[in-house]
Amino acid sequence: MSFDVVVLGGGSGGYATALRGAQLGLNVALIEADKVGGTCLHRGCIPTKAMLHAAEVADAVREAGKFGVGAQLTGVDMTQVNAFKQGVIDRLYKGLTGLVSGRGVTLIEGWGTLVAANAVQVGDQRIEGKHVVLGTGSYARSIPGVEIGGRVITSDQALQMDYVPQNPVVLGGGVIGLEFASVWTSFGAKVQIVEGLPRLAPNEDEAVSKALERAFRKRGIGFKTGAMVAEVFQDENSVTVKLQNGETVSGDILLVAVGRGPRTADLGYEAQGLPMDRGFVLTDDRLRTGVGNVWAVGDIVPGLQLAHRGFQQGIAVAERIAGLNPPPLIEANIPRVTYCEPEIASIGLTEAAAKAAYGEDAIETVEYNLAGNGKSQVLQTQGFVKVVSLKGGPVLGMHMLGSRVGELVGEAQLIVSWEAHPSDVAELVHAHPTQDEAIGEAFMALAGKPLHAHA
Ligand code: NAI
Repeated sequence: MSFDVVVLGGGSGGYATALRGAQLGLNVALIEADKVGGTCLHRGCIPTKAMLHAAEVADAVREAGKFGVGAQLTGVDMTQVNAFKQGVIDRLYKGLTGLVSGRGVTLIEGWGTLVAANAVQVGDQRIEGKHVVLGTGSYARSIPGVEIGGRVITSDQALQMDYVPQNPVVLGGGVIGLEFASVWTSFGAKVQIVEGLPRLAPNEDEAVSKALERAFRKRGIGFKTGAMVAEVFQDENSVTVKLQNGETVSGDILLVAVGRGPRTADLGYEAQGLPMDRGFVLTDDRLRTGVGNVWAVGDIVPGLQLAHRGFQQGIAVAERIAGLNPPPLIEANIPRVTYCEPEIASIGLTEAAAKAAYGEDAIETVEYNLAGNGKSQVLQTQGFVKVVSLKGGPVLGMHMLGSRVGELVGEAQLIVSWEAHPSDVAELVHAHPTQDEAIGEAFMALAGKPLHAHA
């Protein structure tokens, strides 16, 4: 079998390559051992957001009295939550498989191995392509000495649980750890987080971490930061994390959320001479590996492991194969959202990164507190919009915290990606009352003319 493009892996990066390739008139094969949609659709973004929505509903019911609405939370039925979640996945999966067949992509089901720079073997079938695009994704990894099994789980098992854990311990205060800590707390669990670095959400701007820690403390979520794990042991009833400082943290479940590793082992990548580093496939900024016409997209390429990065990379690779010349992706300008309560949304450089890049004196920042934002008060949420800007120059980063601020990241993205100056944005009208107005206010403050802000 011979194609213009053979794509190995039907996750976000792979299927985006296939769909865009087909749109551009290329003859495309998409090889997938499991289900098209990959981690994002079946074990990641979509199911976790469904759970987070159920969590938001639970919180709304629990707090209904605050708004004068009589309601009582009588319980969370995980079987029904899972059914709701699966319903969302099923509908999207049906749509996606329809798209793949509708665009004329040849879907090959099976486990593929790279056997030449222009060929993937699936069982006894050799599938050749003028171009091969690798998008084999990632897996939940653990740390040395911590075996997954029994009460020690990753997000894969956490998404399948048919009960709410009572007092789960979450290892890792990054994206997955924060989202599960949030869901389980809303569902009534007593959660404790163990994070090795000095703060929760350590990749975010420090102001975001501080305010998130305050909000989590208020929600009753326990956490230890700067906490290195020495060992983990479990028995029939509990699991215990012993820290290097001698302290212990125990619970009924330990969720290991310490990052995801590239899924590249035993796929023939090394044998074909692909440049690799710690399991990741190295590429140039156009996503070429330098071996034949082999390209790589998504989580196997070092950088942010986000579905929307995979989509964009896949689209760009398909366009390059078709002879177009899309520019390389700017990693810092990929929007990032953590959907815990309160949400975190950010884009561009943190204050610390901007100062490191441009010098302490070259940067100005402003933080607009949601206390002055009408819609946020209606929602009873706290947080802020922080802008990091080059003095007299463009906006370099935006960092937001608060319920629903994930929905504001679109405007933040345009501002940073189009290198807007604060005065450009300060002229724009933001609808009242929206949370979006907080962005407008932040820029009015930066432009020296704040409206709803105390001096
Ligand atoms: P992560 O890199 O976001 O967080 C892992 C955390 O574990 C870090 O804060 C790290 O300091 C900590 N850690 C590592 N080793 C440790 C140890 N031995 N002891 C204590 N703490 C330790 O990775 P995470 O949360 O597992 O997520 C994996 C990937 O999935 C990320 O790249 C993330 O971007 C992506 N993802 C994205 C989501 C979103 O966009 N909303 C949601 C969930 C995951």
